[in-house]
Amino acid sequence: MSTATSSDVLALPFLQGGPKKLLIGGEWVDAASGRTFPAVNPSTGEVIAELAEGDAADADRAVAAARAAFEGPWRRLKPRDRQDILWALADAVQEHYEELRLLEVLDMGSPIGPRKSRPSRAWEASVLRYFAGWATKIHGETIPNSMPGSVFTYTLKEPVGVVAAIVPWNRPISNAIWKIAPVLATGCTMVLKPAEEASLVALRIGELLAEAGVPDGVVNIVTGFGETVGAALTQHHDVDKVAFTGSTATGQHIIRAAAGNLKRVSLELGGKSPDVVFADADLSRAIPGAAMAVFSNSGQVCCAGTRIYVERPVYDEFVEGVSEFAKKLRVGNSLDPQTQIGPLVSAEQLDRVLGYLELGRAEGARTTAGGRRIETGDLARGYFVEPTVFADVQDDMRVAREEIFGPVACVLPFDTIDEVVARANDTTFGLSGGVWTRDVGKAHRLASELRSGTVWVNTFLLFDPAVPFGGYRMSGWGREMGQHALDEYLNVKSVWINTD
Ligand code: NAI
Ligand code: MG
Repeated sequence: MSTATSSDVLALPFLQGGPKKLLIGGEWVDAASGRTFPAVNPSTGEVIAELAEGDAADADRAVAAARAAFEGPWRRLKPRDRQDILWALADAVQEHYEELRLLEVLDMGSPIGPRKSRPSRAWEASVLRYFAGWATKIHGETIPNSMPGSVFTYTLKEPVGVVAAIVPWNRPISNAIWKIAPVLATGCTMVLKPAEEASLVALRIGELLAEAGVPDGVVNIVTGFGETVGAALTQHHDVDKVAFTGSTATGQHIIRAAAGNLKRVSLELGGKSPDVVFADADLSRAIPGAAMAVFSNSGQVCCAGTRIYVERPVYDEFVEGVSEFAKKLRVGNSLDPQTQIGPLVSAEQLDRVLGYLELGRAEGARTTAGGRRIETGDLARGYFVEPTVFADVQDDMRVAREEIFGPVACVLPFDTIDEVVARANDTTFGLSGGVWTRDVGKAHRLASELRSGTVWVNTFLLFDPAVPFGGYRMSGWGREMGQHALDEYLNVKSVWINTD
């Protein structure tokens, strides 16, 4: 598989047999409209499959199926049975991981990587197993009260109900599993709407649900566009909660749409994360570390460290080092095991990012690496952008303030720790922050003072199923992963019993 070609992937049984369908109540069905839309390989611009274009009518059907499943036997299933189902789904994801990754690579464009560096344990299987463990550990409390007489009080934790999970395209396997795992652990049911740019992985996971014994209707999958089926789900009066990952603008839209029936809303939104490099840092690690915090997945990472603040004495050395690093990255077709940087996900994202490259030049940033679309040879057919370094960036430039979601690093010099803390926090976002230093005092000070949901010190982009992830400010509401993630899917009920 290390030399898989797109024709190998296109020969997968999953991609045979006509347009992909919607999963509603355990059945694979066509969209009510009968319309389809293409799934595109961003490395080549080729259409690889047709997908059902769901709309409001399909959202209705899927929500009804999720409601029926929620009110059915699923509601009374024992925690251990939910645990076993999650574990079985983890096994299925692990067993089919190569195929899921190939679909992810072909549909979304993240590089497959050299065979030897591919993990033997699927990270998303670990996420499912972590939440499998929680299924048997969700419980309330007994609470002493001060009422006269004998009144006993306790709490129960109950699933919120039907969840609409609306996800982006930047890590399709994780995008789906991060939502499915807590839904199953807490006993909710769901309608999953994958992103129109990369829906194939979610549909293949949909096939694995039945194998794992997930009851029909517990997880429904509706493909289609945000403005139609996405909006219909977020407005739907029989949806109890929206779990969303994506842009801040769409998150704001969802909050307004959710107001109709006061849905619970959790949001994992955008960022413009600072990464602070002190002069005492080990630059041999900080340079590649800070570079990959921006360039990995072609910068299509919500918590990418895109604003790199470098202490003045090492600023020139850093700019030169990170620019050399960027120029050496191998950009190419995602199926090539040598490729380090793949394409952007779509022609639309390409246009957006090229617009920011233009803007950065116009705003007066100095381009020290990259800066252009790749338009030579085979890559001209895909959506490839050179890993780009903008040096001498000013805090008020739009390229330093707005989420670009492409392989674009902004490097800015700083002089003092007070100054860099203030500048790093001068953003509407708050998803993550990075620090590179050998000084434990500076590390702790920034860990405490950076206003973001995550701080990484001498590392970047690490995730673990047990460690909460989410944003401050306009980067979102709520947490995914870890124990806190469960609360987003649970209601607390207080019970009073007069025992006199
Ligand atoms: P988006 O936030 O519009 O799309 C994410 C999901 O929301 C998709 O499933 C989409 O169909 C759905 N959606 C869109 N409009 C909706 C609506 N009105 N109601 C309900 N659902 C809706 O992001 P998009 O357009 O893919 O990318 C635009 C920019 O957003 C990117 O350039 C990037 O800056 C940011 N983004 C950030 C992500 C993150 O993880 N922080 C992920 C994806 C995009
Ligand atoms: Mg695609």
